Amino acid sequence: MSSGESRRGLWGSKLGFVLAASGSAIGLGNIVFFGANAYRYGGGAFYVPYFVALFLLGIPMMIVEFGLGKTQRRSFPASMRKACGAGGEFFGWWSQINALFIGMYYITILSWAASMLMKAFGPLLEDGRASVGPTFGATLASWTPAAFVVVLWGLNMVFLSKGTKTIERTAKIFVPLMWVFMIVLVVRGLSLDNGFQGVWYLFTPNFDGILDFSVWRGAFSQMFFSLSLGLGTMVAYSSYLPKKSDVITNAGMVSFLNCSFEFIAGVAIFSILFAFSLYPGSSTGTLGMSLVVIPSGIAEFPAAQAVFAGLFFFLLVIAGLTSSISILEAPISAIRDKFAWPRGKVLALIALIGLPGSLVFALPMMLDRGGEPTQTTGLTLLDLLDHWAFGYSLLIVGLTEALYIGWGYGISRLRNELNATSFLKLGPWFDWLIKLVIPVVISVVLIFNVLGEIGAFYGTKESQLFDGLNWLPFAVFIFWAIATFGGASVLTRLTQAKEEGIERVES
Ligand code: TRP
Repeated sequence: MSSGESRRGLWGSKLGFVLAASGSAIGLGNIVFFGANAYRYGGGAFYVPYFVALFLLGIPMMIVEFGLGKTQRRSFPASMRKACGAGGEFFGWWSQINALFIGMYYITILSWAASMLMKAFGPLLEDGRASVGPTFGATLASWTPAAFVVVLWGLNMVFLSKGTKTIERTAKIFVPLMWVFMIVLVVRGLSLDNGFQGVWYLFTPNFDGILDFSVWRGAFSQMFFSLSLGLGTMVAYSSYLPKKSDVITNAGMVSFLNCSFEFIAGVAIFSILFAFSLYPGSSTGTLGMSLVVIPSGIAEFPAAQAVFAGLFFFLLVIAGLTSSISILEAPISAIRDKFAWPRGKVLALIALIGLPGSLVFALPMMLDRGGEPTQTTGLTLLDLLDHWAFGYSLLIVGLTEALYIGWGYGISRLRNELNATSFLKLGPWFDWLIKLVIPVVISVVLIFNVLGEIGAFYGTKESQLFDGLNWLPFAVFIFWAIATFGGASVLTRLTQAKEEGIERVES
């Protein structure tokens, strides 16, 4: 191993990479957001858009991200700079700042799952129901999540401390464990009375919603998030691959593992929700569904079975941890590539910015405004930031990535480079998919989103719930826009450190 290799890191094995990448992909997105989206967009109606999104956008974009990382052997901004120039680097940094924002509230949501986990253990010792549900708001509005934010940031730093080495070790333990736990939950869910009804709801084809634009938008965003695309995560992970790796097969494998897990999770959650007669109202938003309805469904397990509720929240925490480390590793590798700083220094910087951010969302006074937990400031703040950082950035980055790589770098060049070391070969059709079809599809979705925004600026309706907070949606948008666009142009302009410190290895 040359010193360059040890400095930047390289996966120990192909299995290690597949586990780490699928650990990144499998997370809160698969367990709670998928079920919530599928429910919100009408169960069976969700599948056609979902599969179109998988084959049309998901797998192809994962091949592009894996390919970019493997061939450029750099983090996302540096890869984009090398492949497509300064404009590419700008979008690279823009995505990294969004990644940091998403990382912040992703860890806050994890801290809520951890708080519920602690709560679920209570009933094992006492009588009565697991009763997480009714006291959900109270748990969130206590200091417990804030304490867990600190613990979870600590764990993230430990798992990231030695780069690929510690990430790989974490994935090797947690990823197989997630599958085992999920299978236990599916078996339990399906064996409950009425459990199968939920499965029917989930799988009964329903083509009514197929002309509804929001279903498509929901499926596309869900796919990007679930496969960890659009934030440079997969580029960073694949930049640690040896040159000979077959990324086409790997992309197929990681997507397959991710979507199978998502399906199984959907079955588990729907069977449990229906068994406990929890039918959320159609107005329940994704976050409310994910963070209130699903947890309260899980919490319905009688005390003797509170262990299943515990299992569910434990599963959420470990699945979320292998994802949060990947979200953070993207900006970490980006900063390291740009400034050639030691990993410890970059970890400290990221924690210094990110931990206070996560805490803001988790503070009890943010959440304790009475009423429904979905109507609290913290959740509103999170929801508002999520709307921009998640709702727009993944698709915008996917669009620019497809255009820059498709036309700038040249997708046929990338395709030839990847085909050379792949078992499956991509044909010329792939070029047009990346150059034309994907940009058009994403643009249509984005244009409709923006048009919707002009009609009613996101959050303005909701924030009327609180006196005097009508300015909040605009403030969050302006803050986000300045931080991401301003930050990215500053970072792009700063001079690149000499690359010898991070020189790649050919192996
Ligand atoms: N895919 C993860 C999930 O489903 C979240 C995630 C990790 C992610 N890395 C990402 C989402 C990069 C978008 C981009 O929970």
